[in-house]
Amino acid sequence: MGICGYLAVPGRCLVVLGLRLLFLVPAGVPARSGDSVLKDNITVRQGDSAVLKCNVDSKVSRVAWLNRTTILFAGNEKWSLDPRVILMENTAVTEYSIKIQNVDVHDEGPYVCSILTNRKPKSTKVHLIVQVPARITNISKDITVNEGSNVNLMCLAVGRPEANIVWKHHSPRGTHKFVTEGENLELTAITKEQSGTYECIASNDISSPDVRTVEVTINYPPFISKARSMGTSVGQKGVLQCEASAVPRADFEWYKEDRRLFNGLNGVKIETQGKQSMLIFFNVSEEDYGNYTCVATNIMGITNASIILYGNKTNYLVILMNFQIVDMTVYCPILKCTLILLLFLCHVLFNICTIS
Ligand SMILES: *[C@@H]1O[C@H](CO)[C@@H](O)[C@H](O)[C@H]1NC(C)=O
Ligand SMILES: *[C@@H]1O[C@H](CO)[C@@H](O)[C@H](O)[C@H]1NC(C)=O
Ligand SMILES: *[C@@H]1O[C@H](CO)[C@@H](O)[C@H](O)[C@H]1NC(C)=O
Ligand SMILES: *[C@@H]1O[C@H](CO)[C@@H](O)[C@H](O)[C@H]1NC(C)=O
Ligand SMILES: *[C@@H]1O[C@H](CO)[C@@H](O)[C@H](O)[C@H]1NC(C)=O
Ligand SMILES: *[C@@H]1O[C@H](CO)[C@@H](O)[C@H](O)[C@H]1NC(C)=O
Ligand SMILES: *[C@@H]1O[C@H](CO)[C@@H](O)[C@H](O)[C@H]1NC(C)=O
Repeated sequence: MGICGYLAVPGRCLVVLGLRLLFLVPAGVPARSGDSVLKDNITVRQGDSAVLKCNVDSKVSRVAWLNRTTILFAGNEKWSLDPRVILMENTAVTEYSIKIQNVDVHDEGPYVCSILTNRKPKSTKVHLIVQVPARITNISKDITVNEGSNVNLMCLAVGRPEANIVWKHHSPRGTHKFVTEGENLELTAITKEQSGTYECIASNDISSPDVRTVEVTINYPPFISKARSMGTSVGQKGVLQCEASAVPRADFEWYKEDRRLFNGLNGVKIETQGKQSMLIFFNVSEEDYGNYTCVATNIMGITNASIILYGNKTNYLVILMNFQIVDMTVYCPILKCTLILLLFLCHVLFNICTIS
């Protein structure tokens, strides 16, 4: 008899034996028909208290509460060594209820209230169900990879009923996208658009979902997104702008033909801030006009773009010619054409129509 193996008091063993022989139902075996009533399941959250109620009639001679085959209480006497199990203050004679405090998952199972009446034994069985809110126990660390790599993200969660896991992607541009369901998220041949925050959402309906995130950073070579040429007249300030997207951030270099330019030399200043670099001429001279190259580099690669610093006159002429072409091919209000032609002639002949 395993139940009373640890109990030295022979009297108790006798009671257990007696109870068992008379009417107790061994764990796992359905109660004998007519003798037992299955009450509704009792559902409690982990950490909460469970009250197991039992109604008895006044002719009862003996009562006991059992957890599976283990006696918790026999009458008013506590048998369980577990301090969480207490006998309620049963004010009515017909009530014999116990309370389990700080319920944990291993408490889940059948509990039996055994009643020995004068006539025949009876038992009430309740099934204790313990619920656990979904909680993430482990999630992949933030990760940095090169474009084209494969990435596996993991998110482990506990919960009763079992937690449902969903991944969502928040890209740097702020778009939200559902990605997949399940513990593992596999991203093959990752692209830079797939960088950003990945959110793991674990939920069961016990409480609000548990959410944790993983940052995925994707290295990619620079590409120049803005390279603006500029028209400036002699003696004015001139600025050439170059903008490159890259992870990690690109380093910039400026060249005029094959000659590298340095900050503070030859009357130029190089100002780089984030993804943008500027080549600044404080006082443009005739020799400054020409073809410049902006070179953007990071660990992933190198790229360049040419940017022209040109005089204001050329610019004006180009604009003028563009007007002429557009207007003439589309429709030609004679007055406008004449005006443009006049301006053009005046520019070519006298060089006086330039803005400077
Ligand atoms: C009690 O719980 C068990 C197991 O979780 C389930 O099979 C049974 O349908 C439930 N009974 C009631 C009355 O809710
Ligand atoms: C009920 O029995 C199970 C299995 O032996 C045990 O783990 C659990 O602690 C018991 N709970 C109570 C409240 O006695
Ligand atoms: C989380 O999972 C990783 C990978 O399986 C493992 O190395 C790590 O020890 C786990 N951390 C915890 C707190 O369980
Ligand atoms: C010519 O240069 C001046 C001074 O840099 C500038 O303000 C102006 O917009 C330029 N004109 C044209 C047509 O580019
Ligand atoms: C710009 O350079 C010219 C020629 O070197 C000089 O005459 C002029 O004073 C300079 N202007 C400014 C604003 O520094
Ligand atoms: C500027 O130089 C680059 C090569 O250094 C060349 O490909 C490009 O055509 C040049 N641009 C102009 C307008 O001359
Ligand atoms: C710019 O790129 C071209 C083609 O990749 C390369 O041939 C050239 O040398 C580069 N120019 C500079 C100044 O790095």
